[in-house]
Amino acid sequence: MIAIDGPSGTGKSTVARRVAAALGAGYLDTGAMYRLITLAVLETGIDPTDDEAVATMVASVTFDSPTDPSAQQHELAGRSVTSEIRGPEVTRAVTPVSANPAVREHLATRQRRLARSGRMVVEGRDIGTVIVPDAELKIYLTADADERARRRHRQDAGRTAAAVAPASDIAAVALDLARRDDADSSRQHAPLQAADDAVVIDSSQMELAETVATVLRLAAERGIRS
Ligand code: DC
Repeated sequence: MIAIDGPSGTGKSTVARRVAAALGAGYLDTGAMYRLITLAVLETGIDPTDDEAVATMVASVTFDSPTDPSAQQHELAGRSVTSEIRGPEVTRAVTPVSANPAVREHLATRQRRLARSGRMVVEGRDIGTVIVPDAELKIYLTADADERARRRHRQDAGRTAAAVAPASDIAAVALDLARRDDADSSRQHAPLQAADDAVVIDSSQMELAETVATVLRLAAERGIRS
């Protein structure tokens, strides 16, 4: 099992998916789970900051969590919501929802079960610290704030290129990333932090392929091979 944690915009998801594919392992995107719950909260008309109301509805949200690194389609009650969960409304509201202890507890059970269901690369914020503290390899992937904002901006522009033009610019993206990282790092339950035994990789000056190769080398050193 490989745990990959880190702040937003590091390219963590792409790295984790490629590492999983190279190893013939599964891939679990725990951020997507928080986003699915958040979308359900918004669609139900519940205030995402109303902890009690969110806690009451979380167990009734039905969704599957794909673990195939090359087929990451997300569904909510049978409806495809893969791009919707990456939209700005969900991205704004996911902060209070993911800080809700009842939501974290509910999802942690599912995440631990899936993480132990086979060889798995699990990606999130608290994987090495809380969800699978016994992972064979823990990576904390980071990059400097400007570079992360540039990467996220590029990713958003690519995703919405065929849809309505995104009004985002790099400064706005940087502000949003800073807001989310501050909230994720300072929340009371399972804050974003590197595990003591995590290998910290600063990918600011690294190409994607180089980061993937670094993780695969660290995995091989621990006997994790395809
Ligand atoms: O990785 P992402 O941007 O899709 O994650 C969405 C949000 O969910 C992010 O703001 C932090 C939160 N999150 C979390 O609290 N714990 C995780 N294990 C994964 C994500």
